[in-house]
Order: sequence, then structure tokens, then C-alpha cells
Amino acid sequence: MRSVIGEHYFSAEPSTPAARRQITFEVAGRGYRLSTAAGVFSADRLDAGTAVLLRKAPLPGPGTTGTLLDLGCGYGAIAAVLATRAPNATVYAVDVNTRALDLVRDNATALDIADRVVAATPDEVPADTLFAQIWSNPPIRVGKEELHALLRRWLPRLAPDGTAWLVVGRHLGADSLQEWLTERGWPAVRHASQKGFRVLSVRNPGDGSAGLAENP
Ligand SMILES: C[S@@+](CC[C@H](N)C(=O)[O-])C[C@H]1O[C@@H](n2cnc3c(N)ncnc32)[C@H](O)[C@@H]1O
Repeated sequence: MRSVIGEHYFSAEPSTPAARRQITFEVAGRGYRLSTAAGVFSADRLDAGTAVLLRKAPLPGPGTTGTLLDLGCGYGAIAAVLATRAPNATVYAVDVNTRALDLVRDNATALDIADRVVAATPDEVPADTLFAQIWSNPPIRVGKEELHALLRRWLPRLAPDGTAWLVVGRHLGADSLQEWLTERGWPAVRHASQKGFRVLSVRNPGDGSAGLAENP
């Protein structure tokens, strides 16, 4: 993960000049060209952890409907892949960094998926929206408390039969996060492991037993 001098990629409004650039990558045989900018996470290339997530987790397909979430979307690599793969789904791309959200909107327009990609800050997401899938390369560097708060906020918004797909570095606490989730009634399974990253799948137990909201 990278930070920029004097601030982090998760700054709400980066003060450095945007210095936009284009990056390219391939997922499931399709090429993507997206705009990124300084002050946004992994602006020079698709992040290695995100690449593992998009390679190892089962991507949605044309039959996927409902609303999906790219949590901590950055410039929107995951949202772009989800929305192009699942033309019948709506994708919320959520971040605290407003520069990142501007990039998501521009990238969605360039990919002709702007009608189904909603770039929003956390507070802009309607409170009653549930997600069929949550995808995230979560912000580990914000610290454990904030990370846990983020998951306590969004995992309860997984639809009853929904799944969250998370990628976390092995050295950044993937295994302890898996344990923390499972202990709170959100069974987290190691779906895959590659290049030092774990892909975790977290299912909503669907019986209201999960206690993320109550047990910090
Ligand atoms: C590890 S980066 C992943 C970015 C992007 N998904 C990617 O794969 O390139 C985590 C992102 O989470 C965002 N973030 C930090 N705190 C957040 C919060 N409370 N709610 C939503 N997003 C947050 C950061 O701004 C950053 O863009």
C-alpha cells in the first residue's frame, strides 16, 4: 500500500495535485483502462491484493442481479469489473476519498456503465439498501479499530444469503481478522491464498445470530 507525502490515500480530500494517469490491467480475459490520480490508493497499477481478489474469488456473471458493493473502492477497479461482468446488477462504489469517487464516476462513464455504478461516500448510501455481495480490499492501514468499525457497519448490510469477498495481506492480519469475524458469528472461510494475500469469504448466517453490531 502507498501513502503520499503528508497524507494518506484515505484522506477525504487529497491536497496534492491530482496528476491523472491511465492504468491498464486484465481480469478474466478482458482488458480494462482506468483513470487514476495521485492521492488515491495504488495509483500506478492495479494493487497486487486486488488482483488476487479478482483472480481467485468467483466473479459475478450475467445472471447476477441486485445490488453489489465495492467497499473502499479507490478509483473503482473492483466496481468496474463487477459492473461489466454483471450487466443486470447495480454496483455501489463507496469510499471516503472524494477524489477517488470522481475517478469512479469518470471510469464508469468511459466504460458505459455509469447508469449502474453509484459512487458514494458511506453516508450517501441509503440506509435500507442490502447487498447481494460485498467486495473489498479493505483499508488495513487505518488501524484495527477503524477496520473493525468499517466491517461492523457494512457486513450487517449483506442480504441474508449474501457473501462478502475480502482480500487481506497475510502479514497485515488476515488470519486474525478471519478469527475476529468468525468469533462474532460471521463465519469467515479462507477461500484462497496467493502471493501473500488471503481471500476470505464471509457469509451472512441469515439467522440474525451475528453480533458484529453489538460486540466491538
Ligand atoms: C486498500 S484501498 C483499496 C482501494 C481499491 N478498492 C483498490 O483495490 O484499488 C482501501 C480504500 O478504502 C478507503 N477507505 C478508508 N476508510 C474508509 C471508510 N471508513 N469507508 C469507506 N472507505 C474507506 C480508502 O480511501 C481506500 O481507497
